[in-house]
Amino acid sequence: MMPVLDSDSLEVLAFRLDAEPEAIRAIGDCLSEDEFRRAEVLRLERDRRRFVATRGQLRHLLASRLGVLPSDVELEYGRVGKPCLSRRMPDQSLRFSVSRSEDVAVIALSKAREVGVDIEAVRPVPETDDIAALCFSAPEYESYRNLRPEERLEGFLRSWTRLEAISKAFGCGLGGPFPSNERDFTVITFVPKPAYIGTVVVRN
Ligand SMILES: CC(C)(COP(=O)(O)OP(=O)(O)OC[C@H]1O[C@@H](n2cnc3c(N)ncnc32)[C@H](O)[C@@H]1OP(=O)(O)O)[C@@H](O)C(=O)NCCC(=O)NCCS
Repeated sequence: MMPVLDSDSLEVLAFRLDAEPEAIRAIGDCLSEDEFRRAEVLRLERDRRRFVATRGQLRHLLASRLGVLPSDVELEYGRVGKPCLSRRMPDQSLRFSVSRSEDVAVIALSKAREVGVDIEAVRPVPETDDIAALCFSAPEYESYRNLRPEERLEGFLRSWTRLEAISKAFGCGLGGPFPSNERDFTVITFVPKPAYIGTVVVRN
């Protein structure tokens, strides 16, 4: 895992997902039965591999911070799927968020502050204008429209990952509504790997 951001209260680590089958089996060995079942129903072998690699890395990272075995990490899920540590885990202040895009994943960890992360590979998205019109706030849409054509894709992905990261911190999903003001968050844009864009947000 490669550190992308590292401060006292916020860490972001990035890793590649398309490892050798042996490495994926080893890292995924600690998954729960539920997680194996989730992997099994994914249609594409590539998606199964990427899910197992991400979940395995998440369990190893959380386990190292909690002082337990990766297979003993217990997760719970919010109303629309936000994972968090179960109340039985020793450190209740540890917060995390996960994102993957193509063959890269990131995990953000924070102490006591709600955190959300999202990454996207920079590749052409044909519907950017429509999505921006539908999902961005009026000022954000205005800034997007003012970008030069060659800046639009990256500008779109910066705003999009910010929106996704905030929705993940809230745990409400993109459907919202956001329960409090976006200004309650510190927003940091980062590059997990060349040709990717990421945003991490932590509650102030
Ligand atoms: C959760 C959501 C933000 C995922 O975004 P994405 O860009 O497709 O995928 P990412 O790889 O970045 O993130 C996936 C990870 O986010 C986490 N996650 C899932 N639901 C979450 C939620 N409600 N809040 C925070 N994090 C969530 C999980 O760790 C998941 O990893 P997993 O699939 O390995 O379990 C998005 O699908 C969503 O909003 N879902 C909620 C349901 C919803 O609102 N549906 C209506 C959509 S308009």
